[in-house]
Formats: sequence, structure tokens, C-alpha cells
Amino acid sequence: MSIIDNNQYVPLSPKTPVEKKQKVNRLIAIIRKAPGYQSGQTPKLNERAKPLIDSSPKKGTISGVDVEVTPQGIRVSGKHLGSGYTSNVSEVVRFDKESGQIKVLAKLESRNQSVLKRSVKILENLKIFGLTETDLTYLGLPLRVDYGENGRIKSLLLSLQGQDLSEVSSGSVPLYFYSKELASAAKGLAHLHKAGFVHSDIKADNILSSIDDKPAQLADFGFTRRATIEKTKIGGASRFFAPETYATIDEMKANLGMVDSKSDIYTWGLMMRNLMIEKILPEFIPFSGSEFDRLEYRNIQPNDKALYGRVYYLKEKDQFYAFAKDEEYSKIFDRILSESRLSEEQKRALTDFMDYALSCTHIDPQARPSADDIAEFLTDFAKRTETITNGTKLNFGLDTSSSDSDLSNDDSYSDDDSDEDGYSLF
Ligand SMILES: Nc1ncnc2c1ncn2[C@@H]1O[C@H](COP(=O)(O)OP(=O)(O)OP(=O)(O)O)[C@@H](O)[C@H]1O
Ligand SMILES: [Mg+2]
Repeated sequence: MSIIDNNQYVPLSPKTPVEKKQKVNRLIAIIRKAPGYQSGQTPKLNERAKPLIDSSPKKGTISGVDVEVTPQGIRVSGKHLGSGYTSNVSEVVRFDKESGQIKVLAKLESRNQSVLKRSVKILENLKIFGLTETDLTYLGLPLRVDYGENGRIKSLLLSLQGQDLSEVSSGSVPLYFYSKELASAAKGLAHLHKAGFVHSDIKADNILSSIDDKPAQLADFGFTRRATIEKTKIGGASRFFAPETYATIDEMKANLGMVDSKSDIYTWGLMMRNLMIEKILPEFIPFSGSEFDRLEYRNIQPNDKALYGRVYYLKEKDQFYAFAKDEEYSKIFDRILSESRLSEEQKRALTDFMDYALSCTHIDPQARPSADDIAEFLTDFAKRTETITNGTKLNFGLDTSSSDSDLSNDDSYSDDDSDEDGYSLF
């Protein structure tokens, strides 16, 4: 244990001390069992590991844990962190040959080779574009690339992040936290845009919180494209496409459209709006989500599509769906706030957040803010909402008296006890 206790090689992510110790013990056990290891060697971890890492690559499983010995170091595959449509992300503990340090990273593997290659290309481009190390911390780009045979990329090693924003549970997390995390990711988006890329897959699952004090990151470049390519095949979640992405109904059916950084801003606005409705409001205000759902899943006639703030086409159902017009949205939101027992200052803050989200989904792409503007707004907003409460959690109850209003006709909603508990909104 002394090797670890002297603290030299323990830049492990600051989880609980128990977890940290378990991880280190696991790694030591694995190194001891690994081929080539001889006891009685110098206690320095890098010295111990030298014979291992100089040997040819070896793979094995020890106590159900995958271990790989490569020229770069020993890699221990750990828990599954998440997966998406194309990728699988797991945690790896890595003993680095060059620095002699134990690092915990995230390993991204993808069925789609071009997804991996694209991340590497984007990183190269951003470096050429002059982005500094600090700028790059806002983006979940590869720290290392693992190549296999024929120059194919096997996996990307990324910094280990915490939960993505879709997983962060509402209630336990105050609004300023979301704002702070979104502000970091917006800085990443601004860099990406300035370098000429469109992210094309903005959503809460692709914003990764940090597990320490570092900034959150905008991640997942599976659909990222050059902004200069106009009519191009676009991917991502079609529910969140900006209206101008679809030029005509035929093109919409074929998933063809225009790609521009302003369409990322549109999707960003929807994400902010959805975070507010799905995560923030329901914890504090007794409204049923169904009214918003009705707005969201309204079925429309194909030819009316331009009238709405958002339209999408579900191929499998051959149906067009529309998102409510911003005015309808604002009306319901205002009504919900006015029926709540929030203070004027709190209401104002929520309204400002929502108004900003709505300005991002302006039907005219040129009227939308830039990613830099968004980062600035959210940074200020996070500061402002944190100081409203002097950094402490706010306590306020639900207005149960309005529970028979038409906004609360969902019988499943009943939270009478929560008056006492209080919640933190900001
Ligand atoms: N560096 C990381 N640290 C921790 N968790 C991560 C990391 N990268 C990704 N994840 C988790 O894995 C999930 C999938 O990763 P990613 O979004 O890159 O995959 P994808 O297949 O491209 O997803 P999508 O379906 O959105 O296209 C993320 O939503 C997140 O929860
Ligand atoms: Mg994703």
C-alpha cells in the first residue's frame, strides 16, 4: 500500500475515499497478477509495471475485470458509464507508461468508425484554429486515441465526466447548477461554431457534468458537420431539428436540409425549455405536464408546418408533428408561475430563463443569439440565482390550494407532504 499512500500516483477522480481505495486495491491486485510481475521489485509503481508494459500486448480477465497490457500502459476496463445510438462508454483505469500515473478515464468505443475519426479530426482542427488547453476543457474530445490494425481507431480515451444532464435528478439539483453546467457547454459550442462546425445533436444527454470542479463538457460529435456544407444529410434527433433545417416537405421526408450553426442554437433553446419543464418546474409547482405535452405532440397538416415554431416528421408513422408556437408556450408558463407561491424574484428569474430559451428558438435564425451570448447569459444567470439565496438552498412549499385548477387535473399528482419538506429551486 505504501506506493499509493505516499500519494504520488493517486490523481484519481475525487470520489469517496472508500471508492478510491477500492479502485487502487483492485489495480494493485491486477498488476500483481499480471504476466511479468515479480514481487520484491522496487515499490515505485512505474518501476513495477515496466516489465509489463514493455512486453507485447496481452489481454485477460481478472476477477471479471478486463485487463490489457499495451505499450502505453496497463488498462483495466471498469464499469459501464453509458451508451447511445452508436457508442458505448466505459470507465478505464490506466497506468500510464509515460507519466507513471494512474488515471481514470472514459473509453468510448463505437460501431461507427467515422464517429471516432470525426472526433479526432475536430480536435486537430480546433488546435490548428488556435484553441488552448483551457478552451478544450469545455468539449468532450479525445485525450488519446487507441489505434488497432490497419490504422483503424479502436477507441477514444476521454476525461472521465460525471452524469450527463438528462440523468441529473431534478429536485436534488438547483437551477443555478443547471445554468452553470449549461454555461460551460455553451462555451464549448461557441468554440466549435467559430471553428466552422455545427454540432447537430444538442441535447441534455450530450452535456456531461464534471465529477470535480472542472467545467461541464459538450460531448458526442457523432453528427458534427462542417457548417459550410449546405444541403447535407443531417442526423441527430429529428424531434429537435430547427424548422429551417427542412426546406421542403420532400426534403424533410428524405432528411435533407440546411446545416447552419443557428440550427444548433434553436435546438439549444428547446433543450433549455425542456429542462425547465421536465426537471425544474414539476418539483415546485403543481401542474400536470399534460398541458405541455399536448402542446408538444400536436398533430398538424403537412402544409401548415411553417406556421409553427417547430415541426418534425416521424418516418415510421408518416406523420407530421408540431411544437407549440412560442406565444402559446409563454402563456401557459406565465399562468403556471402566477398560480405558484414563488417569490417575485424567483418568478422573475424563471421567466428570464424561459424567455432566453424562447429567444433561441426564434423562427428567424438570424434573430437567435450566438453560443457566446448564451454562455454569457447563463454565466450571469448562474451567479444571480446563486446569490438570490446566498448560496444556501431555498425552502418554499407547493401551493396545494391550486391543485384543483385546470392545470393540475392529473390525479396522479399529489404531493401534499412536501409543504414541510421545502425544495431548493435556485
Ligand atoms: N467522458 C465521459 N464520461 C462519463 N460518461 C460519459 C462520457 N462520455 C459519454 N458518457 C456517457 O455515455 C453516453 C453515450 O455517449 P455518447 O453521447 O458519446 O454516445 P452516442 O452513441 O454518440 O450517443 P447518441 O445516441 O446521443 O448519439 C452519454 O450520454 C453519457 O451518459
Ligand atoms: Mg449522445
